[in-house]
Amino acid sequence: MRALMSFLLLGASKLAAAVPAQNALEPLGVQAAGIHDLWRLTLLICTLVFAAVLAAFLYAIWRAPHSKVQLAPDVSTLDQPEPKLGRPVVIGVAISIVLLAVLIVADFVTERRLARLPLKDAVRIEVTGHMWWWGARYLDDEPSRMFDAANEIHVPAGKPVILKLNSADVIHSFWAPSLHGKKDLIPGRTSLLHFRADQPGVYRGQCAEFCGFEHALMAFTVVAHPPAEYEAWAARQRLPAPAPATALQKQGLEVFMRSTCAMCHTVAGTEAGARLGPDLTHLASRSMLASGTLPNTPQYLAAWILDPQKFKKGANMPATPLSAHELEALMAYLETLK
Ligand code: CUA
Repeated sequence: MRALMSFLLLGASKLAAAVPAQNALEPLGVQAAGIHDLWRLTLLICTLVFAAVLAAFLYAIWRAPHSKVQLAPDVSTLDQPEPKLGRPVVIGVAISIVLLAVLIVADFVTERRLARLPLKDAVRIEVTGHMWWWGARYLDDEPSRMFDAANEIHVPAGKPVILKLNSADVIHSFWAPSLHGKKDLIPGRTSLLHFRADQPGVYRGQCAEFCGFEHALMAFTVVAHPPAEYEAWAARQRLPAPAPATALQKQGLEVFMRSTCAMCHTVAGTEAGARLGPDLTHLASRSMLASGTLPNTPQYLAAWILDPQKFKKGANMPATPLSAHELEALMAYLETLK
């Protein structure tokens, strides 16, 4: 266990490299670009207003009479009428109203423009927020073509994607800043979000609504493939898990079925069909574990299975006590889930 932990510490520096950047100022989809343009307009107006207010403030200081501190009130001024609003105040209020109106119109126009983008042949994915991971069900009019995945949203680049957002417990928020703004996932309600990734790539996302102790460790990635590559990926995901081939892998499946694993997870093609945790049918094809928390390597996976609470305190997954041989067999089986 000590050797494992020192490996993990060494690996921590590599973790940053495994996670792609997340940058709201680098829009890589048409929706994010529209929101970014709106942000730039807001920044420009706010900067001008800030500079004008600061200039007026400094001018007022410069023009103020250098009066001495008055210890007693000057009774001769008490009966004077209140001064009327000066012209600078009226002009300031008028400019504020105009600038706010410009921002409201720009916001409205941006929202209308993004809502009118074509959605023909869109890929539809039902994303469900859980404390603290993401379920993804790829919808299809043909039920046999639907499949489940978790924590990585795969999409075809250049094509529209419609997300149906739900929550299984509390309010979460889906936010992949390079692709779109935030959208809340609210229990008992379905909200829609559509986006288009213009280029193939891996886009990091993050839950953007505080949802409990491990809110910060509820990340995800959107993987945009060239369309043909996406079709090939989806075809592989629709397949059930392969039957274990070696004796060790068969023992691994037995360990999976009789330990706590099968009580919460699904592996299509086996008797494990529970829906409390992420679908593991193609676990080995994912690049990260535990909702973007750890790289999906055998070492991290083993450490995660033995004691998830070490990495994600309060997660629903309990520690799984296994002998060294059971762990070896389980790992051999999980590696077949490509
Ligand atoms: Cu889910 Cu924050």
